[in-house]
Amino acid sequence: MRIYDIILKKRNGGALTKDEIAFFIDGCVDGTVPDYQAAALCMAIYFRGMTDEETVALTDCMARSGDTIDLSRFGELTVDKHSTGGVGDKTTLIVAPIVAALGGKVAKMSGRGLGYTGGTADKLESIPGMRVTMGREEFLRQVEETGVAVIFQSGNLTPADKKLYALRDVTATVDSIPLITSSVMSKKIAAGARSIVLDVKAGSGAFMKTPEDARILARNMVAIGKACGRNMAALITDMSRPLGTAVGNTLEVIEAAEVLRGASRGDLYDVCAALATEMTMLFAGISHDEAAARVADAIESGAAYAKMKEWIAAQGGDIAWLERAKYGDGAAAAVPVVCPADGFITAMDTEAIGAASVILGAGRSKKEDAIDFSAGIIVKRKTGDRVEKGQTLACLYTNDAASAESAAKRYLDALTIGPEAPEKTELIFDIIR
Ligand code: URA
Repeated sequence: MRIYDIILKKRNGGALTKDEIAFFIDGCVDGTVPDYQAAALCMAIYFRGMTDEETVALTDCMARSGDTIDLSRFGELTVDKHSTGGVGDKTTLIVAPIVAALGGKVAKMSGRGLGYTGGTADKLESIPGMRVTMGREEFLRQVEETGVAVIFQSGNLTPADKKLYALRDVTATVDSIPLITSSVMSKKIAAGARSIVLDVKAGSGAFMKTPEDARILARNMVAIGKACGRNMAALITDMSRPLGTAVGNTLEVIEAAEVLRGASRGDLYDVCAALATEMTMLFAGISHDEAAARVADAIESGAAYAKMKEWIAAQGGDIAWLERAKYGDGAAAAVPVVCPADGFITAMDTEAIGAASVILGAGRSKKEDAIDFSAGIIVKRKTGDRVEKGQTLACLYTNDAASAESAAKRYLDALTIGPEAPEKTELIFDIIR
């Protein structure tokens, strides 16, 4: 078999066989397929697409390209979630303890943030003492005892994806449905959970800018996950404004704890409750209404917040800190973004708001950048809200006072303020089961 013939076949619109896909992935990992040929095949896939059979084969080969996690000791109880990434998306911090409090087993690998979307591993590390690296046996023991462990995705999981994603990033081939599907689903399959719930974001702060595009991606990922033998569901949720109010690591941990204490309701609560409900339906095999009732009860009874504390303590995190932490702790400067005119916020460029948080120090522009955990934004007014000249639209927190001016400008430029209230939009566009 020659990689040249495989590229030619896909370039001409042919469907690749399982063996051809395996040959390509093996060659990517062992270095016998050079980068230029791997990139050429990605481009051919970008233009020609893939059948479901090809995408399943690609996902399966990528999932097996490195280590896999064996969660079989937990039977049907393992459940994972994946978000396609957004601004203020701290759902894992809320959903994981809810599901664990209800008897699910959440053995989760998470990434660090790059650019305008944050990473769960960074948010967790903003808790003093919290460890996000541990050995495989310790990880599984914690899942056994506590029901939840979330660690930084390290080791040799899906090396084929690492290589291909880096190539796609520099060859304009990231936004291909079969390539995104195989990239995301291979990591989830290798991570071992029986059930997987996806949160596919749509809007100005997401990869998929419209609900229609997000729906196509979500349907594809659900179909491929099922074909790989997993129980699947996907929510398509709004990212045309930040989720909740906090953007930035420590701020988001505090907001997550508030939701679990029952002190914060709103869009973040609603998305988390919907995600936890889908996860509970899958791991417990119960109806939507039954799962939704159990989720609401886990929050109202305090069981989910108790589980959050148990989980954080198990990973060395300081519970006393969590109980007393307040917005702005650790940040030398708190700078208001002041409303320039009366009217309504009619749109938010959420990606630009994420970029403003990076300017403040809350995220990385390059992989090796350090993060200021206490930096970030508390969003006080969102799309649809009436605003008045002089009112505080957001509060910026930073330890780099010089950055606040350009971050405030970036934030303000991200808002559209007009005389009429915009039409109300959905928070959860669709659920695909
Ligand atoms: N996130 C991933 O992990 N892979 C993609 O291809 C796109 C987003």
